[in-house]
Amino acid sequence: MRDGDRDVLIQRTAEALVQTRRAVALTGAGVSIESGIPPFRGPGGLWETMDPMEVAHIDVFRRDPEKVWKLLIEGMQAVLSVARPNAGHTGLARLEQWGYLRSVITQNVDGLHQAAGSRDVIEFHGTFAWQRCQDCESRCATGKVDLSRIPPRCACGGIYRPDCVFFGEMIPPQHLARAQRLMARCDVLLVVGTSATVHPAAMIPLLAKDAGARVIEINPEPTPLTGRVSDYLIQGGAGAVLNDILGCVEELRGLGGHIDTPR
Ligand code: APR
Repeated sequence: MRDGDRDVLIQRTAEALVQTRRAVALTGAGVSIESGIPPFRGPGGLWETMDPMEVAHIDVFRRDPEKVWKLLIEGMQAVLSVARPNAGHTGLARLEQWGYLRSVITQNVDGLHQAAGSRDVIEFHGTFAWQRCQDCESRCATGKVDLSRIPPRCACGGIYRPDCVFFGEMIPPQHLARAQRLMARCDVLLVVGTSATVHPAAMIPLLAKDAGARVIEINPEPTPLTGRVSDYLIQGGAGAVLNDILGCVEELRGLGGHIDTPR
């Protein structure tokens, strides 16, 4: 993509954002790569070295929780525990604070959007910040779980598992319903750092498109949405692209080029 084109798309995105109060962002692992968290697919992706159906499927967890804890969960938690938000996360939080962005729907389980200051975050695939007992369903903050024994146990004797959505499990119905409601009213959807290959999250841009929204991808690489569902792709890392978009938004705000109506 030529710089000129990129600048035009960034300016166009900023202009669309300052004209709305109903933008939404859908994010994936790509937005957290610059925080040191590996993606799932592509170069350095987790699933390049292990089969997700062998380490991240609920049937495998039920059958052999120790294996899943040792091969996947422990490693992910170690990386997540030291990760900090990057400019991609803080950029989206700022767009929310300014009232342009309504919500962030994230496929990530790292809690970095909230750590960056985003208030309205739908954790579509759950979170690693909490553990849930397989037996009594009680939840406990990950930091309070005794991890000296793997798999860790709840007071009831049940086995803890991250409060995330494993393959083979349903998306929490309240998250699905909320995402559908948001898409019905959305007029700008930022699709940041997702390969758009895992359903039902990958359906969200289509719902936005059907509702007449402008769908804008931010990703170094094209995805199955590119040229089919998204209006355009801004090729680049989430941090740098969102930084540039915010720069343009600030200029437009300085010029009074934004709407100031209540949410
Ligand atoms: N900024 C933005 N996007 C980036 C960056 C970056 N710096 N670097 C890479 N990407 C893009 C890649 O090009 C790719 O399209 O991020 C995407 C990461 O894709 P995946 O690893 O497939 O992550 P995601 O789409 O979130 O996966 C969806 O799959 O394994 C399951 O539950 C897991 O939530 C996850 C779901």
